[in-house]
Amino acid sequence: MHINNTSYDGFESSFSDKQEVVYRSSKLYDVQKNVNLIKNSYNKKITVLDVGSGNSKFLYALNNSGILDHGYGIEISKSRYLFAEKWCKDLDISNVTNIHSDIFSLEWNLLPKCDLIYCPDMVFQFFEPTNKGNGNLFLSKAYNKLNDGGKLIMELDTCDVILNSMHDGKVKLWREFDESDPWRYMLWDCNYENNCMSLKKTFIKRDLSKCSNSHVILHPYSRTEAISMLGKMHYSNIHIEEYWDTNKDTEHDEFIIVGERND
Ligand SMILES: C[S@@+](CC[C@H](N)C(=O)[O-])C[C@H]1O[C@@H](n2cnc3c(N)ncnc32)[C@H](O)[C@@H]1O
Repeated sequence: MHINNTSYDGFESSFSDKQEVVYRSSKLYDVQKNVNLIKNSYNKKITVLDVGSGNSKFLYALNNSGILDHGYGIEISKSRYLFAEKWCKDLDISNVTNIHSDIFSLEWNLLPKCDLIYCPDMVFQFFEPTNKGNGNLFLSKAYNKLNDGGKLIMELDTCDVILNSMHDGKVKLWREFDESDPWRYMLWDCNYENNCMSLKKTFIKRDLSKCSNSHVILHPYSRTEAISMLGKMHYSNIHIEEYWDTNKDTEHDEFIIVGERND
């Protein structure tokens, strides 16, 4: 199995009850900017497919905003799916269906047509390195699942900061998370080869008691490359949003690409 399919396993499995409460509310707060963009893009209740939905925070926040008709969250990691299901039960939400599946093994025909296919946080960038051709395959499946006027919204990263700080295709970087996160530091060991960015990440707990490792391989996309890919797969009204809601609410190098199905 490709490492991208297991890189998030166990991500949310080591919290105390107290940490989980703080974590959940910080995640709902973080995703509010994404919800605001969606609320400004539709004037009706919408059916949503969240690809690589993780803990499903986006679908729960969208439901809180009153705009969600039904949401389907597809997540390959069993532990993240279980975390999302437990949270769903605690919230007593009935219009979100969490599905534990690889998006490429999903029976798409069992799902209804969607007004929004949402693919944030570089999820699309996992697909091409996992299997050559998966990028276009996903764009085509998503297009066929959209209602007339429906939108595909993806958040991508050019990885320019990392690429520009590399020597011979390698660099080591670190970042510190804010205090609501049980993890304090993340160390990145980055390698770039054949259009693929390998990110080996080490997470260190707030009390420094524990380390956790993960490895993911991403395909960086420029704005031009992303626009061209969606154009070739028949999307229309393709455009880039630099921010979700307000100036500077995306990380450096991140951008949002929107494509529509218009029959
Ligand atoms: C960067 S995380 C984003 C999670 C979530 N959307 C968020 O915003 O917090 C990427 C997620 O996509 C999931 N994922 C990666 N490849 C997948 C695939 N082929 N099918 C379904 N989920 C996938 C990972 O397990 C991980 O939870």
